[in-house]
Amino acid sequence: MCGIVGYIGTKQAAPIILDGLSKLEYRGYDSAGMAVYDGVGKINITKSVGRLKILENITRDGETMPGVCGIGHTRWATHGVPSDTNAHPHFNEAETITVVHNGIIENYLQLRKMLTDRGYHFVSETDTEVLAHLLDYYYKGNPLEAVTKVLHRVEGSYALGILFADCPDQIFAARKDSPLIAGQNEDGCFIASDVPAILKYTRKVYYVDNQEVVRLRADHMHFYTVDEEETTKEPVFIDWDASAAEKAGYEHFMLKEMYEQPKTVTDTLLPRIKDNDIVIEELNMTDEEICGVSKIHIVACGSAYHAGVTGKYVIEGLARIPVEVDLASEFRYRDPILEEGAMVVVISQSGETADTLAALRESKKRGFQVLGIVNVVGSSIAREADNVMYTWAGPEIAVATTKAYSAQLIALYLLAVKFGRVRGKIEDMTYASLLGDLRCLPDQIELLLNNKNKIQRFANRYIGAKDVFFIGRGIDYAISLEGSLKLKEISYIHSEAYAAGELKHGTISLIEEGTLVAAVSTQPALYAKTISNMVEVKARGAFVLAVTCEENKEIEKAADYVIYIPETNPYFANSLAIIPLQLFGYYVAVGKGCDVDKPRNLAKSVTVE
Ligand code: AGP
Repeated sequence: MCGIVGYIGTKQAAPIILDGLSKLEYRGYDSAGMAVYDGVGKINITKSVGRLKILENITRDGETMPGVCGIGHTRWATHGVPSDTNAHPHFNEAETITVVHNGIIENYLQLRKMLTDRGYHFVSETDTEVLAHLLDYYYKGNPLEAVTKVLHRVEGSYALGILFADCPDQIFAARKDSPLIAGQNEDGCFIASDVPAILKYTRKVYYVDNQEVVRLRADHMHFYTVDEEETTKEPVFIDWDASAAEKAGYEHFMLKEMYEQPKTVTDTLLPRIKDNDIVIEELNMTDEEICGVSKIHIVACGSAYHAGVTGKYVIEGLARIPVEVDLASEFRYRDPILEEGAMVVVISQSGETADTLAALRESKKRGFQVLGIVNVVGSSIAREADNVMYTWAGPEIAVATTKAYSAQLIALYLLAVKFGRVRGKIEDMTYASLLGDLRCLPDQIELLLNNKNKIQRFANRYIGAKDVFFIGRGIDYAISLEGSLKLKEISYIHSEAYAAGELKHGTISLIEEGTLVAAVSTQPALYAKTISNMVEVKARGAFVLAVTCEENKEIEKAADYVIYIPETNPYFANSLAIIPLQLFGYYVAVGKGCDVDKPRNLAKSVTVE
């Protein structure tokens, strides 16, 4: 996720753009840049790796870039590490066309080859640079025509700001799947990824629709379809205050990031499914090497570890490869036994977790290949892993992870299905069915998120709870681990996750009248077993919340409250069952008045042992 800003009007553009970008740094902050038309035929471009402050210093708060028309960008790297060269804006060789982009161009490699074959030269590793050269390729003097032709060629998601040196009195913008707004006041017209960037200048905004193009001039703007048909649009009046606007109107970043999960899952999944086949280019493994993997060690911390526990069940179930999951803080000191043919997978949102990084180094020291499943491009783990499979979740601000965790699950499902297919464990019909179920997950997550009011009402009953238990078997145990952590880390209520069959070996003595037990039951083969565990705790006074599949009506005999999730392949059920549990933890914490985004004692990235 990145942030883009554009301005054209009567004021100096650079200070306005810098101010707007500073309100969008939550969308990305590993590099930043600006392009400003100097008024006498040239587009000046300044960009640099690092926080926006560096760009402000280099340009002396915009003074070195005079002009009344410009675009700017603050980056969250997806393709290409954070660097001066990979920072936006990108431009054609003549530097007469420049573009800033938020999103992922999924077919950029094919387009890059087409353009290279026609003599274009690339300087960056990014997908975005393809857009600058493709605009050059189609530009014959009509900028709107060039823009729409490019939009017909690219696949993926984008919010674009574009400058043509030939047309210094215009900025072009376009959008597909990545957010983009436009605005106007008496001093000019604006584009931005999000409301905070321009709220200081205007509260009247236009939400750009998918595959819509905007042409901005100093005193008016026009909207077009990708077929160059002009459209009309009603403005929306924004009544948020500035801080609320950074959360796009959500009360907390955590809630905002929960609601970004459908897009997070889509962005991590779809670029790796091509022509109904899973293609994980970044694996750099031949089919023969995949067949040669004798065991997989998954190593991580916290929620990433919980994702890894799910990964164990899914990979062993679909690929029939033995999987061992370790807490990184244990792995690094237990002198692990890594046998020939083993593969190590480390999972980390931040890519900076000290224990996980140490586990990676220990594995490499022993001569083993390490795959990193990481969210932050260019992070330490991303740089030191032999191969990296990115979770394209964008920057996660809330300390309690939600969207990155969901993206980690997707990465693990893709690995499991890919390895199972290559190793001959998944035949055609099942493969097609698995891909179909994966594609349905974003919409199903959206459906569950829209159920938040019911969960909020239930959560309000447990604001005063002292102990909560989460129980489940198999993948449901993995889901319980994450559900329990979500509750305790933001509401400070003690909770524990237990393998449901384990309760009677001691812990059940803690169950008292009214103790809340959340029973996760998404695995049909285990429905009956989990129901019997629910009956056990109910007999001792527990109040049982069940999270289960729509088909499992039997459970109503043993549960006091049931939350149903849509049907999916049991291997993927974690992606759905975790949503109500995330919402439950969130609303209990909100009800208690906790600092949800910055819980006490915690940090977003644990870079110390
Ligand atoms: C989860 O909500 C916590 N923020 C924490 O457990 C986190 O998952 C853990 O510290 C691992 O962080 P990483 O994914 O950045 O390595």
